[in-house]
Amino acid sequence: MRPVSEPQVDRALGVALITGACSGIGRELAEGLARRGHALVLVSERAAALADAAAALRRAYGVAAHAITLDLARPEAAVELHAAVAELGLEVDILVNNAGIFFFGEAADASTARANALLQLHVVTPSLLCTLFGREMRRRRRGQILIVSSISAWRDFPGISYYGASKRYLRGFARALRSELGVYGVNVTCLAPGATATSLYEASGSVPVERARRLGLMMDARRVAEAGLKAMFSRKAERIPGALNWLAALAAQLTPQWVVDLIRRRAPWLPRRDREEDSA
Ligand SMILES: NC(=O)c1ccc[n+]([C@@H]2O[C@H](COP(=O)([O-])OP(=O)(O)OC[C@H]3O[C@@H](n4cnc5c(N)ncnc54)[C@H](OP(=O)(O)O)[C@@H]3O)[C@@H](O)[C@H]2O)c1
Repeated sequence: MRPVSEPQVDRALGVALITGACSGIGRELAEGLARRGHALVLVSERAAALADAAAALRRAYGVAAHAITLDLARPEAAVELHAAVAELGLEVDILVNNAGIFFFGEAADASTARANALLQLHVVTPSLLCTLFGREMRRRRRGQILIVSSISAWRDFPGISYYGASKRYLRGFARALRSELGVYGVNVTCLAPGATATSLYEASGSVPVERARRLGLMMDARRVAEAGLKAMFSRKAERIPGALNWLAALAAQLTPQWVVDLIRRRAPWLPRRDREEDSA
């Protein structure tokens, strides 16, 4: 972990901490918050990319931007991050839990290391960050928490069992936390993007992200981030950016289970180990 100290913080506007801030939706969330004048604490794993993001935001918006390089997919990450922020002498007014990873395929084929990292990153670390920073917000009786889930939280889909179930957890956690902290004046908002053109799918190989974005099948990360920030600042419970994504979430919820099972049996993009074994 490497905290980098930066210029003065404007305490009136408050400090925003964003996990997964060096690319994609997190980078755009950080930019949106900098544009609004908030000092930033940017957290992710790649030191150089994170330092570049912090420098660019500082230059463009004149805000303080601290960079903390940390692997958030470890059980102790939330406690370490909370301590690193305290060491910088900062109070977090806006907590954005955004960092995430994705993989596709049957759960029985998953790499146990990657599955463990996904669960730490999507379940353990964001929950504990909400506990540690939410406790302080509750004491101060103000604050905002934005939790990035996904429209995959609206249905349990084969092929993304780890990812979808973890995003469903985040959605449920956000709802309960909103109710708990709301009485103290602390707002919790859940952002649930649909397919967005970012590097999330890079590790899964052949997703034609740029073509999908041009065809309107994937949203632009900036639009997604802006929708999330607007929802958070207007204290909304949940936001699915994009009308098509909203319809997709509704359709996913209404689709009978037998249709999901049929897709699983027929879909060419999902593996069938039994057939592979038969033909071997
Ligand atoms: N793209 C979509 O279609 C989509 C749809 C719904 C929801 N989402 C959610 O949106 C969030 C942001 O994803 P994105 O689409 O913007 O993808 P992205 O560009 O790949 O961004 C993911 C971010 O998470 C960080 N991260 C990953 N593993 C980490 C680790 N172990 N420790 C610290 N940071 C880590 C990455 O930082 P490093 O590069 O430094 O590792 C990166 O900044 C995720 O929670 C994702 O599930 C995305």
